Amino acid sequence: MSFGNGLLLRVATRWISGTDLDSAIADAKRANSRGFGAVLNYLGEDVTDSKVADRHTEQYLKLQGAIASSGVEGFVSVKLTQFGLASDEAGARNRLESIAESAERLHQLLWVDMEGSASTQKTIEIYSDLLSRHKGVGLALQAYMRRSRDDLKLLLGSGARIRLVKGAYREPSDVVYPSRREVSQNFSSLMRMLFDGGDNFAIGTHDSKLIEEAEKLADSKHVEFRFEMLKGIRNELKGELVGSGYRLSEYLPYGEEWYAYSRRRLSEHPSNVLLLVRSLI
Ligand code: FDA
Repeated sequence: MSFGNGLLLRVATRWISGTDLDSAIADAKRANSRGFGAVLNYLGEDVTDSKVADRHTEQYLKLQGAIASSGVEGFVSVKLTQFGLASDEAGARNRLESIAESAERLHQLLWVDMEGSASTQKTIEIYSDLLSRHKGVGLALQAYMRRSRDDLKLLLGSGARIRLVKGAYREPSDVVYPSRREVSQNFSSLMRMLFDGGDNFAIGTHDSKLIEEAEKLADSKHVEFRFEMLKGIRNELKGELVGSGYRLSEYLPYGEEWYAYSRRRLSEHPSNVLLLVRSLI
């Protein structure tokens, strides 16, 4: 491991539950003890080797079993490219199907994360097909994507469960709204669509303004929803929301492949540069 990666790992431990399944389950229990649900993600993306994709699938099946046997209140969230979407779409579909079947058997929900724009269309198609057989699956939709309003309209029409997030991948401006203001405005507008026509959705943000807006909407529209936040971010606010009676889950990633995920978290907020500097001392 290079010096730079070693430093990043020291900082990354605040965003990940550890590198193995036992640490993930222990962290999920910690989240549950604070009144949070747990959304567990086995880190990995852009897999092209079918053996690795199979290993990721096995890990999720094991994880779903461990969630059930340990009595954790939670479920898994997966990325289609970790099942080989880019190189073998049929294989990725089959792997996701087996995880959806296991979720159903264990009475767990299942989220599908949304990744870079190269896989958006396929992810939506595969998700929609899966939804026709498994009602407990949900999909993340990114407010920074210009196409998301149209996608949301269609998805709501088919009874999809949606987790709304801002979006975390670097994308060209013909695909995404380039400014933070426009992304927030679109988030706000998509969130209203969810409160008007969605059910069992998740509001995935740490942005106080948007969270306050969601609280106001929740007062007037009585629909089932929950907040979802990432491990290691806005921990006090999580407690406050649960204290006010809202349902909230923590997204808990774990595994050896912590690098890409942690880099996205690091670059999201200027204060994290300070964390890196402090880890040097
Ligand atoms: P914003 O970035 O504006 O942050 C609002 C405030 O939160 C900041 O002012 C700061 O206080 C705090 N904060 C946010 N990020 C921080 C950080 N890294 N370090 C320190 N403080 C930070 N993305 C995606 O493309 N596909 C997906 O499937 C998912 N899935 C997902 C699940 C869940 C449960 C969440 C919460 C988020 C995602 N994301 C995601 C990530 C999402 O797109 C986005 O990158 C982050 O949530 C950060 O955006 P915010 O909405 O929090 O706003």
